[in-house]
Amino acid sequence: MAQPIRVVITGAAGQIAYSLLYQIAKGDVFGPSQPVILHLLDIPPMMGVLEGVVMELADCALPLIHGVVPTADPAVAFKDVEAAFLVGAMPRKQGMERKDLLSANVTIFKVQGQALDQHAKKTVKVLVVGNPANTNALVCSRYAPSIPRENFTAMTRLDQNRAQANIAARLGVNVADVKNVIIWGNHSSTQYPDVKHATVTKGGASKNAYEAVADEAYLKGEFVSTIQTRGAAVIAARKMSSAMSAAKAAGDHMKSIWQGTAPGEWVSMGVVSDGSYGVPADVVYSFPVTIKDKKWTIVQGLPIDDFARSKMDLTGKELLEERAEALAVCQD
Ligand code: NAI
Repeated sequence: MAQPIRVVITGAAGQIAYSLLYQIAKGDVFGPSQPVILHLLDIPPMMGVLEGVVMELADCALPLIHGVVPTADPAVAFKDVEAAFLVGAMPRKQGMERKDLLSANVTIFKVQGQALDQHAKKTVKVLVVGNPANTNALVCSRYAPSIPRENFTAMTRLDQNRAQANIAARLGVNVADVKNVIIWGNHSSTQYPDVKHATVTKGGASKNAYEAVADEAYLKGEFVSTIQTRGAAVIAARKMSSAMSAAKAAGDHMKSIWQGTAPGEWVSMGVVSDGSYGVPADVVYSFPVTIKDKKWTIVQGLPIDDFARSKMDLTGKELLEERAEALAVCQD
């Protein structure tokens, strides 16, 4: 059996972590023969709750768990980790805009960037889930200069999964039959869920999903707004933010990094922009990427029409504004 890898999950006493830990510990993310030592970080007032999570992990009797390290100390949490799920943050409450969260959360990701820089393996792959995820990932990477910027990604996989499920339902096919839906930009209500380049397999043949839906008004209107505001809709119904689906998406995202993407398929994630597709450089922008040997590459050459252009510019503008606000907070 392989040597265990150290994996940190922050916000480990929270609701997303509660679903995520089980997926990681049973081999869904790093593979069924990859043992893990789980580093669980939360804040001091949550140590009692975290102890309960540790008890439950033990009671799961999962053979891939080769150790559990619960802690409130970032230096302990990030020591020698090869993968980091940065989930811990102040969650959005009903009626709260993501921007309200920015200043509180950016400070957390500055501190964690510094701790990663000092204590993690230089090859560590960092997935930022805590909101505002894109800008938190940017801040985190800035404070971890010894770790390649490419190793920091932000989660838009939940948005991708939501869009994929929506189109599958619309077309009356299984969710696995819809591929290559794209999320462009920010994990926020300005994101652009794009079906133009997606495919659907129906009746044994693969065709363009946009043409198969055959309803431009829906795809440019209700579909886009439904995906953009799905998080708020879940909060309104559940009185808590998405957790099971967010954890599933976090597992999917890290699995894509660890195990690569299938031929002909891409996934969306927030990565440091190089200015591809004319979007602003040096913000963490969600692009379609392929992944090989744990390295992502932005899918190039997709035709962008005027509608997509305006949506992509809008969400890019929001990321520039968030970056300016975040860097101002960090300098205080
Ligand atoms: P939660 O409130 O249940 O758990 C958050 C946990 O983080 C708490 O236990 C809290 O004590 C902990 N925490 C706070 N500050 C910390 C710090 N400095 N270090 C370590 N832990 C810390 O929240 P939940 O539902 O688990 O959500 C976590 C984050 O994920 C929120 O920011 C939420 O907005 C975000 N989210 C992101 C999604 C995405 O698609 N990118 C989707 C859904 C949620």
